[in-house]
Amino acid sequence: MNRSKNLRLWLVLVVALLLAAGLGWMRFSTPPAPPGNLAGASLGGPFTLTNQDGQTVRDTDFAGRWRLIYFGYGFCPDVCPTDLALVGRGLQAFEAQDAGRAANVAPIFITIDPERDTPAVLKPFVAAFHPRLVGLTGTPEQIAAVARRFGVYAKRMDTGDPENYLMDHSAMVYLFDPEGKPVAFLPHQGLTADAVTALLATHVR
Ligand code: NI
Repeated sequence: MNRSKNLRLWLVLVVALLLAAGLGWMRFSTPPAPPGNLAGASLGGPFTLTNQDGQTVRDTDFAGRWRLIYFGYGFCPDVCPTDLALVGRGLQAFEAQDAGRAANVAPIFITIDPERDTPAVLKPFVAAFHPRLVGLTGTPEQIAAVARRFGVYAKRMDTGDPENYLMDHSAMVYLFDPEGKPVAFLPHQGLTADAVTALLATHVR
């Protein structure tokens, strides 16, 4: 190998290292996104679904309580379990801060994959994130209606294996007030347990 070839190799290496460092810095310096304001948005509304115990649950069952709502699916390989773990930890921290106000928060997970997320599948899934997390499923029509009302995008992504399809879906944590009106949301990007705790501490009364 001659000298100039050697130099070129070194240059390529240095550029690659700088790029990697830059990307790493960008990743870790991305500040958490502030909560999005949803006051006055026409989001949410009535629903009739089935919980992880097979019981019928309506939006009116949560009347008078703050609702921390997340849409996703139990077979999600990454985003949903990550976000739900943060929601669970954020709510637990709020419970430690102010048990009284936290008791008035209903954490709710609504599946956008009703074909696989039966009550039996949802039961251990939700229990893994928070002891009070309610898991809701329904018929494909019920789920499509609730997703539409809550502005949630969901689309089946087929893989080679019909049993192991993925769902592309919007991922955000919603807070609704005791009357079922939207208050704010936290996007998946930059989500932290602290942001969930702060969201609850700011709004829940
Ligand atoms: Ni997901």
